[in-house]
Amino acid sequence: METFFSDIPKAELHIHIEGSLEPELMFEIADRNKIKLPFNSVEEAKKAYNFENLQSFLDIYYAGANVLRHEADFYQLTWNYLQKAVSQNVLHTEIFFDPQTHTDRGIPFEIVINGIRRALEDGKEKLGISSKLILCFLRHLSAESAMATLQSALPYKNAIAAVGLDSSELGNPPSKFQTVFDKAREEGFLTVAHAGEEGTAEYIWEAIELLKVSRIDHGVRCIQDPNLVKYLAVEQIPLTVCPLSNVKLRVFNSMAEHNLKQLLDLGLCVTVNSDDPAYFGGYIAENFIASKTALNLDKKDIYQLAKNSFLASFLSLEEKQHFIENLDSFMLSYSRY
Ligand code: HPA
Ligand code: ZN
Repeated sequence: METFFSDIPKAELHIHIEGSLEPELMFEIADRNKIKLPFNSVEEAKKAYNFENLQSFLDIYYAGANVLRHEADFYQLTWNYLQKAVSQNVLHTEIFFDPQTHTDRGIPFEIVINGIRRALEDGKEKLGISSKLILCFLRHLSAESAMATLQSALPYKNAIAAVGLDSSELGNPPSKFQTVFDKAREEGFLTVAHAGEEGTAEYIWEAIELLKVSRIDHGVRCIQDPNLVKYLAVEQIPLTVCPLSNVKLRVFNSMAEHNLKQLLDLGLCVTVNSDDPAYFGGYIAENFIASKTALNLDKKDIYQLAKNSFLASFLSLEEKQHFIENLDSFMLSYSRY
């Protein structure tokens, strides 16, 4: 079964590049940059990856990101993720990065984006993986800070497909960023937003109506509002669901209680993603395996999830078609499953 989930062609649409910082790499970069970490060893770091909620995770995630100082650090982080993604047959990936996590520590925006961008270019050339970049604003910071970040991003417009919204959801509704998102769309960016991870269905409505998002990141709490569920199904607004993340951050008590299968059965365009794989116990294939095992997903469900990952991407129609043909021929040839 494991090889099926590694081998099936897929796209990943919800991955924070800072959340792919494995503890081993964190220590390697910390040594190189002479930075003291809040952990004494890789084992101690892994033991600390036990979270009560989103905020308790974010505190550790930002502490880890503090080791990233130079362009080479961002390059190495991104390159390592791309290698892992390719090993799980991710054909296309749409990667979030959080510039404010770095610019607030005095790291220039261009250091961050150049390191990531160079790795993505090499990923295309040397590993054959297609990618897009999504700039996320930290929603616990002000709308003014988000606007300043958008301004710094304008010279790099061609390298950034969309803007998004992440970090502490509760108390920081999408409406706080309406003006910034208006400006981002005016400048030609697509938009996405984390909504309905810890926040209510109302946050999802706001993301759709005020921020005009193309898809919702997480979105699992849409289930609170039958009208919203109907709307998401009719409009086929995708949800980038992250099953292992949701259990680690206690959005659901266990994988068996996750609503992925329910949302799929309701006809929503749901996808499976890893969110912060270094912190949540697995990359995209492990998320598929955990979901399949706990929720009894059948072959049709798995095919639909993989197909949705391409449909929900920011690729062109032709590119989507090409990747879906690839998926279809894989399914035909894979009769053992
Ligand atoms: N939610 C919000 N912000 C984040 C997450 C998440 O799951 N991961 C990294 N930043
Ligand atoms: Zn996320």
